Amino acid sequence: MDKLMLIDDEADVRYSFERIFGSKNALQLSTAASGEEALVMIPEIKPDLVIMDVRMGGINGIETLQRLREFDAKTPVILMTAYGTTQTAIQAMKHGAYDYILKPFDVPKLEELVSKALDASRLMKQVVSCEPLSEKEDYDLGIIGQSSSMQEIFKIIGQLASSDATVLITGESGTGKELVARAIYNHSQRSKAPYLAINSAAIPENLLESELFGHEKGAFTGASSLRIGKFEQCDGGTIFLDEIGDMPSATQTKILRVLQDGVFERVGGDRSVKTDVRLIAATNKLPELAVSEGDFREDLFYRLNVVRVEMPALRERKEDIPQLVRYFLSRYSPDKKGIKTIQNDALALLQEYDWPGNVRELENAVQRALVMAKGDAILNDNLPHEIINQKLRDLGDDEGDDLEGLSAKLFNWARNNPDLKVIPAVERELVINALKETGGNQVQAAKILGITRATLRKRIEQFSIRQELSVE
Ligand SMILES: Nc1ncnc2c1ncn2[C@@H]1O[C@H](COP(=O)(O)OP(=O)(O)OP(=O)(O)O)[C@@H](O)[C@H]1O
Ligand SMILES: [Mg+2]
Repeated sequence: MDKLMLIDDEADVRYSFERIFGSKNALQLSTAASGEEALVMIPEIKPDLVIMDVRMGGINGIETLQRLREFDAKTPVILMTAYGTTQTAIQAMKHGAYDYILKPFDVPKLEELVSKALDASRLMKQVVSCEPLSEKEDYDLGIIGQSSSMQEIFKIIGQLASSDATVLITGESGTGKELVARAIYNHSQRSKAPYLAINSAAIPENLLESELFGHEKGAFTGASSLRIGKFEQCDGGTIFLDEIGDMPSATQTKILRVLQDGVFERVGGDRSVKTDVRLIAATNKLPELAVSEGDFREDLFYRLNVVRVEMPALRERKEDIPQLVRYFLSRYSPDKKGIKTIQNDALALLQEYDWPGNVRELENAVQRALVMAKGDAILNDNLPHEIINQKLRDLGDDEGDDLEGLSAKLFNWARNNPDLKVIPAVERELVINALKETGGNQVQAAKILGITRATLRKRIEQFSIRQELSVE
């Protein structure tokens, strides 16, 4: 459960927070009427997020924040401020506030900000460990991998612990780049300072620069007040920049300058602002290719590439699959005591599959299979269709296979996997192929397969094929 703490000397505000957040199940709200009171309560309650008023009797919000930061560098703090005191709030942002909100506040906006800040808080506090996990250990929070390529990654994380170098993490989508970035942070000297993750691909281009570097009042239409960007907010901490190759060139130049000189200007300003940020960047593209195509600035690439961590694709380290599956089973089984298992032949299928979506795809497959499984073990039948389809394709792949040879192989496979309904599985593959071949024309597809159109329709429905074709 997330713990939210409100500090405000006005009883009305405390009351409206009780109304908005008091009844939410996943949230526990506590309130304090002054900064002094809050500073006594915080070490005991250990809130995940603090929201406080700037102007209060006794010590004000900024001083409260400063004193809080002496013993707690991470817990995000959102400041509430009336219009007249925006400048004060900005000062407070420089002391490490997460964000501020104007009074009177708009409830949906407040709720959104609270949920974003709680996410950030969770990320910061979640320790990602790369120690090999023993069987007994609670499998929570770990990077799984006994393969030699993952052991290499763990070594690099260890070697980086005493360094403040910029790191570039590359690798296909779902290979664990973000997990490794957090492990590097958790093992670094900056682990007590904040960690902010920014996905440049998820932020519209025109907003990205102001998100990163902030903007001056009046820098563009809608910039009604000064805004502090992530690089300024995260002074002393670590920034994880995801999808770095997708950034506009001008923004890349600005990042390069921060890395080299530790200074930047806010959008629409000419005053240099100093910051000390450790940068960890990631991309799922081949950076060398992006450089040669002009999408990734060469100078920035060389500056980031000081330490390079290349995440191996899951298909290159299939020996890690059983342990990953056990990890996800223990994590996602609905009942901690009744952890489900997986049948050996189903596990074998998982181990043979190529996993184009890497660990993320495996994680989703296990999660879905857990929902589908009726007994206490996952069977072949509970696995996603793609996995069975690939197996069928592999079986039929040999050149020079005649129909007899192929059906003998299929038969053998079916005999070893009694819970798999082999005829429907093959039928499904054939229907998909016929539909792909005819561009979805059901009359022609039915003709090729030698069945009536009504039967074809039934099969499409039965095998939930429509969904799969429209995805492509
Ligand atoms: N070695 C691992 N052990 C346990 N879980 C892992 C491992 N690698 C990845 N995961 C899990 O797989 C999912 C995807 O990982 P992550 O988000 O780090 O991938 P990514 O490389 O950043 O992908 P993308 O390029 O799509 O952003 C996450 O839920 C993560 O926890
Ligand atoms: Mg990622």
